Amino acid sequence: MSPAAPSSAFSRFALLLSTAALLGVNAQQGTYPATPLASKHFAYPSGIPYQADTDGDLVRGPQFGYNECNSTTEGQTSDCQTSFLNSLDDFCLWAPAVPNSTIADTEGEEVAWCTKPGRGTRLIPAGALQGVQFMKTPDYVQVVGFIDQTQINMQPGDSGGELGALFVDLRGNPLGALVYSTAWSESNNSYTQVIEWHNFMGGGAFCFKACDPAGANASNFCQHIYDRIGCAYNAPNAAQNGSFTSCEGDDQDFPGIYTANGTVMTYSQPPESRGVISSLPYQPRVPASSNCVTFTSAALYAAMGTPAASATSVPVTSGGATAGATAGPGGPTKSGGIVAFASASASATGTGTSSGAGALRVSAVSAVVGVVVAVVLLS
Ligand SMILES: *[C@@H]1O[C@H](CO)[C@@H](O)[C@H](O)[C@H]1NC(C)=O
Ligand SMILES: *[C@@H]1O[C@H](CO)[C@@H](O)[C@H](O)[C@H]1NC(C)=O
Ligand SMILES: *[C@@H]1O[C@H](CO)[C@@H](O)[C@H](O)[C@H]1NC(C)=O
Ligand SMILES: *[C@@H]1O[C@H](CO)[C@@H](O)[C@H](O)[C@H]1NC(C)=O
Ligand SMILES: *[C@@H]1O[C@H](CO)[C@@H](O)[C@H](O)[C@H]1NC(C)=O
Ligand SMILES: *[C@@H]1O[C@H](CO)[C@@H](O)[C@H](O)[C@H]1NC(C)=O
Repeated sequence: MSPAAPSSAFSRFALLLSTAALLGVNAQQGTYPATPLASKHFAYPSGIPYQADTDGDLVRGPQFGYNECNSTTEGQTSDCQTSFLNSLDDFCLWAPAVPNSTIADTEGEEVAWCTKPGRGTRLIPAGALQGVQFMKTPDYVQVVGFIDQTQINMQPGDSGGELGALFVDLRGNPLGALVYSTAWSESNNSYTQVIEWHNFMGGGAFCFKACDPAGANASNFCQHIYDRIGCAYNAPNAAQNGSFTSCEGDDQDFPGIYTANGTVMTYSQPPESRGVISSLPYQPRVPASSNCVTFTSAALYAAMGTPAASATSVPVTSGGATAGATAGPGGPTKSGGIVAFASASASATGTGTSSGAGALRVSAVSAVVGVVVAVVLLS
């Protein structure tokens, strides 16, 4: 598979931006950091600075919280912005610091909400997680699930948006966000800094993918230009509401890349100015999974407090190479996986509406910065 050159306006724009950043053009305009967030490397925990973002004089102002997090900062008022994606029972999500917020309004300021104490963060409240699938593939780890998002300070109806390290001003959303994982050092549990990642939050669901920095295609698997088409297209999955499952699996196709009639195609996401995305030309392929093990949330998330779901402890192994991807209603259908999360997907099957779409809003701040930069570049 060979991804074609970026062709959407947004992609061209992203390309211009990275070119400009490389040339240092916009650093002179006072818009860009001297060092993009994705180029800042810190060992965890010994090398973590108080804040990874030191560019408070630029357009978006200072980093909201901090990266140096410890027992002093831990708890539900923590503004820790150092996050983890290790396993089914050990991950964090980016969500607002203040109740009843939307992701679009707070994308630069989200804080880490985690399933486990011990790293100076907030904890996802017991019962908030309603179903989670963890997937480890050759190139990434991914956690996808269902959540009562009001318990992590999101407005009940917020369709949300995308967080990631590579947003248009190269400071990250949230600013200064750092992500680590032990997923690639199981023998000694050491932390690898994740450079390429994306986290969609909204519509009662989430997906968070961390790409192995050792992989040659990390930036493709953790692509950040498809912010309007949600989890179904950026993190194709078979997550089930009410089910807590850990699997191994094959790699996805790169987001936006699909094969139709034997030809590899690249999807161009239209700009927000062209209105709601009412249909897409493809259904994403949900990769095969294996060695899926199902748990109860009580067994997994004891550290969060009172168990959320059924208290019966029954690890269930669903064997077979495709169990996680195709069993029951879990395939890429309207009832399975997090497909309804992206209204575009529902529309593609003829039942979508333009409302209640998950993770479809483009960043207002990014758009503003984008216009500024486009003008600079094109003039
Ligand atoms: C990266 O992706 C390209 C395009 O699909 C593929 O040809 C190449 O083998 C991949 N590299 C690795 C190391 O997987
Ligand atoms: C704990 O973290 C806070 C916030 O980053 C920092 O100010 C403080 O120095 C840290 N304390 C210790 C003992 O490291
Ligand atoms: C949450 O915010 C919305 C929109 O600003 C507002 O209408 C609603 O009353 C707020 N809810 C609470 C519980 O504050
Ligand atoms: C931990 O294991 C990884 C490989 O799994 C290795 O690259 C790394 O150097 C090890 N770290 C330590 C501190 O031993
Ligand atoms: C997931 O299941 C819970 C409990 O049944 C339900 O309240 C919630 O709306 C479901 N989430 C989605 C996105 O369907
Ligand atoms: C694939 O081929 C079929 C039959 O020729 C055609 O109807 C369909 O539109 C094609 N799909 C795409 C995505 O080009």
